[in-house]
Amino acid sequence: LDNGLALTPPMGWLTWERFRCNTDCVNDPDNCISEKLIMQMADAMASQGYKDAGYEYVIIDDCWLARQRDAKGNLQPDPERFPHGIKYLADYVHSKGLKFGIYEDFGSETCGGFPGSEFHMKQDAYTFAAWGIDYLKFDGCFSDVRDMPIGYAAMGHFLNKTGRPIVYSCEWPLYQAFKGIKPDYAAIKETCNLWRNYGDIQDSWASMIGTVNYYGQDVDNFTQYAGPGGWNDPDMASDYSLSYVEERVQMAMWCIMASPLIMSNDLRNIRNVSKALLQNRNLIRINQDPLGKQGAMITKNGQISIWTKPLSTGGIVVACLNQGDDGRPRKIKFTLNEIGLTKQNGYNISDAFTMRYMTVAKPNSNIVMAIDPHGVQMILAMPLRKRK
Ligand code: GLA
Repeated sequence: LDNGLALTPPMGWLTWERFRCNTDCVNDPDNCISEKLIMQMADAMASQGYKDAGYEYVIIDDCWLARQRDAKGNLQPDPERFPHGIKYLADYVHSKGLKFGIYEDFGSETCGGFPGSEFHMKQDAYTFAAWGIDYLKFDGCFSDVRDMPIGYAAMGHFLNKTGRPIVYSCEWPLYQAFKGIKPDYAAIKETCNLWRNYGDIQDSWASMIGTVNYYGQDVDNFTQYAGPGGWNDPDMASDYSLSYVEERVQMAMWCIMASPLIMSNDLRNIRNVSKALLQNRNLIRINQDPLGKQGAMITKNGQISIWTKPLSTGGIVVACLNQGDDGRPRKIKFTLNEIGLTKQNGYNISDAFTMRYMTVAKPNSNIVMAIDPHGVQMILAMPLRKRK
């Protein structure tokens, strides 16, 4: 979407994967969807280094709404859980130097059963703008998927009309693909800043790697549509139950896939290693590379796959992923030639996680690596200039 926003993949935090539709503030006051939770996460984003690393949007997913619109048909938050209203919360998030996002649904109800935007899109767009919303996640439950091209475009039109810059996150291709309709990615890219293609990510290796494999297969050729202003969205990053080695896979893959880096974890309670990984500047630079090319899987042999992503600097990031779980690290051997890196002067190879120099390699020299089970090795290959 050419609205001047999301020129690199959006970065932020979203409630859903970790906090779900927990509305029970009586028995679980620290984890229910409430203004307190959002304020605490905004505090953590600002004070724990996430903001400095580039994370910007604090986003409430489903279950913030009251069950009914007000007498004028306006959306209103649940009064118990958001006693000061949404504008107050947006102001608070803004006061931390962060941006604020919210969730609605294109159909008659949200997936959690709260009022949807059907027949209210214009009104809701203006409500969001008046509240100071900077990002809208627009879901697709309780709707006819055939209406999506028109409906999503309509909401985008109204958001634009408000004059407020609002990142527009869509779920249109995901719902269409579920119904066996081939998504029109060209139209989606014109309408949305990011779009979900695949099922909801869950807190497990199986779900995370299933998403990666869907991206690897490039179903309906969506990879080519990613670029400044519009991104394929494999859903939230940072899951609680992954091991550290698996977390490295998720972060590496989300960076090589130029995916939005939207965390959904408890920032108040996170392991130091996980936090350092989420804030790894070398990886974030790959994710946020201004060229905006989504990396692609170029070979897969059993459990091992190799992915590459070209950078604006002329460098190429190469990720070697081992999905196997059979104990020992797998040894792999390949030449740069085999993965399309053919510059005859050769390449300077460094570890993409640390930027530590590893070696110099010609296109036909062998690269040998050992990759942990459920692990990844990622390197940066910088072409060498000709010697005078
Ligand atoms: C759908 C979306 C999820 C989340 C839930 C909320 O399942 O795909 O990302 O927003 O709805 O109910």
